[in-house]
Amino acid sequence: MKPVVSLEGIRKVYRMGEIEFEALKGITLEISEGEMVALMGPSGSGKTTLMQIIGLLDRPTTGRYMLAGEDVTTLSENERAEARNREIGFVFQAFHLLPRLSVLENVEVPLTYAGVPAALRRERALEVLEKVGLAGKEHHLPSQLSGGQKQRVAVARALTMRPAILLADEPTGNLDSKTAVDVMSLFQELNDEGTTVIIVTHEADIAEYTGRIVRIRDGMLESDQPNRHRKRAVGGVA
Ligand SMILES: Nc1ncnc2c1ncn2[C@@H]1O[C@H](COP(=O)(O)OP(=O)(O)OP(=O)(O)O)[C@@H](O)[C@H]1O
Ligand SMILES: [Mg+2]
Repeated sequence: MKPVVSLEGIRKVYRMGEIEFEALKGITLEISEGEMVALMGPSGSGKTTLMQIIGLLDRPTTGRYMLAGEDVTTLSENERAEARNREIGFVFQAFHLLPRLSVLENVEVPLTYAGVPAALRRERALEVLEKVGLAGKEHHLPSQLSGGQKQRVAVARALTMRPAILLADEPTGNLDSKTAVDVMSLFQELNDEGTTVIIVTHEADIAEYTGRIVRIRDGMLESDQPNRHRKRAVGGVA
């Protein structure tokens, strides 16, 4: 399989006035198209920092990052934003839905930013809502949904631009274990269809649903192992 994320010697130094902190100390990692990877590690080990770099929300201090074969370390801000919109979907622990917008409108947000015309926007949003099992909930507000349903809306929103890579930072952190498995089943389904999925989690039982477990500690790669006994999540409770 083709490498989609290729990191070479990625370092990230945060500067706070006079103080410097090296959050990533030279990460070399390759993720191929169609993989489903869990990124694990203790609090403060650099997981979110690494995800922000992979997601083009932040730049490494040094090192090279090839995304889908393109060196993205040398891109301008605009070019990076373009590559991000084209290639990456994000899902966060706290859902990040806009409380006053309906489910449908929340899902349309990235399409609006991308300048997609209203009719096509609606069509695409309804299509992804159906995919995540939320047909019929279009006109609910986020507050009228369960936690698992909110996360499904967030996943739907991440899918509207048809990203090659789905990045999820602790997507099940705010969910009970049954709902968490439900969301993992959705990620597995998307992965079966070819989307590369990278999930930050500190829960070993969530990582078991992925095909590869990468551990970082103190900003360094600690281990990188295939998960040969990948569990199948049975979901479907929308
Ligand atoms: N903007 C920043 N400025 C300075 N230091 C930062 C910044 N962001 C993160 N750090 C530091 O970098 C280290 C890694 O942070 P990061 O958020 O990547 O950890 P994490 O592995 O995601 O932890 P958690 O599991 O708690 O979410 C931490 O020590 C943190 O304090
Ligand atoms: Mg984090």
